[in-house]
Amino acid sequence: MNRIVVVSNRVPLPEKGAQAGGLATALQPLLEREGGVWFGWSGSISAKAAEEGTRISHAGRVTYATMALTKAEHDGYYANFANGVLWPLFHSLPEMMRYDRSDAETYFATNARFADTLLPLLQDGDLVWVHDYHFLPLAGLLRARGVANPIGFFLHIPFPSAELLALAPPAGKLIAGLLQADVIGFQTSADLGNFAAAATTLAGARQIAAELLEIDGRRVRLGVFPAEIDAEDFAADALRAARSPTVERLRRSLGGQCLILGVDRLDPTKGLVQRLAGYRRFLETETGWHRRVTFLQIAPVSRQDVASYQTLRAELSQAAGEINSECGDPDWTPLRLITKGGPRATLAGYMRAARVGLVTPLRDGMNLVAKEYVAAQDPRDPGVLVLSRFAGAARQLDAALLVNPNDPDAIAEAITRALAMDLRERQTRWRAMWQAVAESSPLDWGLGFLRLLQQSPGKRAGGIAPALAPRGKPLIPIHTSSNAIN
Ligand code: G6P
Repeated sequence: MNRIVVVSNRVPLPEKGAQAGGLATALQPLLEREGGVWFGWSGSISAKAAEEGTRISHAGRVTYATMALTKAEHDGYYANFANGVLWPLFHSLPEMMRYDRSDAETYFATNARFADTLLPLLQDGDLVWVHDYHFLPLAGLLRARGVANPIGFFLHIPFPSAELLALAPPAGKLIAGLLQADVIGFQTSADLGNFAAAATTLAGARQIAAELLEIDGRRVRLGVFPAEIDAEDFAADALRAARSPTVERLRRSLGGQCLILGVDRLDPTKGLVQRLAGYRRFLETETGWHRRVTFLQIAPVSRQDVASYQTLRAELSQAAGEINSECGDPDWTPLRLITKGGPRATLAGYMRAARVGLVTPLRDGMNLVAKEYVAAQDPRDPGVLVLSRFAGAARQLDAALLVNPNDPDAIAEAITRALAMDLRERQTRWRAMWQAVAESSPLDWGLGFLRLLQQSPGKRAGGIAPALAPRGKPLIPIHTSSNAIN
C-alpha cells in the first residue's frame, strides 16, 4: 500500500489529547498502525497564519502537518460556512442555516490555501484521503494544481436530498469540486443515493451503475463504508474502568438507582432538547420510577463560536434546571447534566454501569457512541440501547429500541420499556448488536476504502504532474511502510 495522506480539518495532535467526534475515533487507529501523514488545521488562530507555513511533528509512525488559520478564515470557512451552512443542511435542519456569500467565498479561498499548503508535501504515489464537509472542493482544487494522485473522499455526516442541498447557493460548485475525487465514500446507502442524485441533477454527472458515475469522460467510484469502532478493545476498557475509583464513585452516588446515560457533543443535531423533553414526559407519566432512576447526560461543549451552539447550551441548561426543580424532590435529583467530557475509558465504564443508553440524534451520519454503548455492556447483564432511527448506526443496530427522536412520548415509552425489559430479551437484543459491532473494526473500514482507492488510477498514472513534483529533499521524510497491507 502506498503512503497514506489523510486530510481533515480537525487533526488530533498528540499534545492536545483526545478529540471529540467520530472522525478522529474512526481514523486514529488506522493511521497509527499504517503510518502516514495527517494534514489539516492546527487548531490555532493567528494573524500571520499565511506566513507561518506548515508545522510538522511526529508521533509513532504518524507525521502531523498542520497550518493555522487567520481569524477571518476561521470565521468564514469553519464557523460560518462549514458549521453554519453545510452542517445544518447536511443534517436536514435547513431552518438553522445562516448563509452569507462572503462566508462561502472564504470557504473556497481557505480550501485553496489548504491545497497550496498540502501541495509541496505530496509525493508520487501518495493516496490522498480527504475527510468531511470542510473540504468538499479540495479534490477539485488539488487537480487544478496538477495533482494526479488517487484522491479519495469520505463524508462522515449524512448527505441530504438534492432538493435540500440546492438551498445552499454554491451547491453545484461544491459537487463539481468533489467529483474530481476518484472514490467517494458514505456511511449509508441512503447517503450514497442522495449524492448520486445531486451529482446528476446539480453537476451534470451520469450514473452508469449503482456505485459508478461518469463526468467529463472520467469515472468516479462511490461506496458505502459504515464507520466502525474497535469493539473488543472498547469492551476491555469498559471492564477495566468499571472497577476504577471514578466509576465506583458514580455507582455509589446512585444509591441503587438505575442509570440512564447519554454521551454527546453539545450539538443541535444530537436532539438533546428533545431528549430532555422525552425524559420529562417519562417522569410525568411513570411516577412509579421516581427515586429509582437517574439520567446522566454528558454533553461536552462544542463549537461555541457558532451562535446556534451558544443558544442551545442556554436552552439545555434551562430545560435541565426545570426538570430538576419541577419533577425532583428534596432527596432526589432526576437529571445530571455535565457539559465537560472525560477520558474515553471512564466514559466506557459509565456506559457499562448504565441500564439504558439514550442515543437519539435528530440525524447522524453514523453515531459511534451507539456502537460504544453496545461494546461496553456486560454480556451477562446488558443494558438496553434506545436509538434514533435517523442515526446511520440504526441500520446495523436494528435490535436496539428504535425511536423517532422528535416524539417525546416515543422516547418516554422506550425508556419505560427499556427499564422494564427482562434479562432474556436484553441478552437477545444485545447479542445481535454485539455481532454487528464486533464483526468489523476501524482498520477494516479504512483499509476497505483505501484498497478501492489504490485500484483507481488517479487523474493520470504516475502521481503528481512532473512540473509540480517537489524537487530535492521532501519536506516530510519519506515514510516507507514495511508492513504489507493485503
Ligand atoms: C463531527 C464531524 C467531524 C468533526 C467533529 C468535531 O464528528 O464529522 O468532522 O471534527 O464532529 O467537531 P469540531 O467542529 O470540533 O471539529
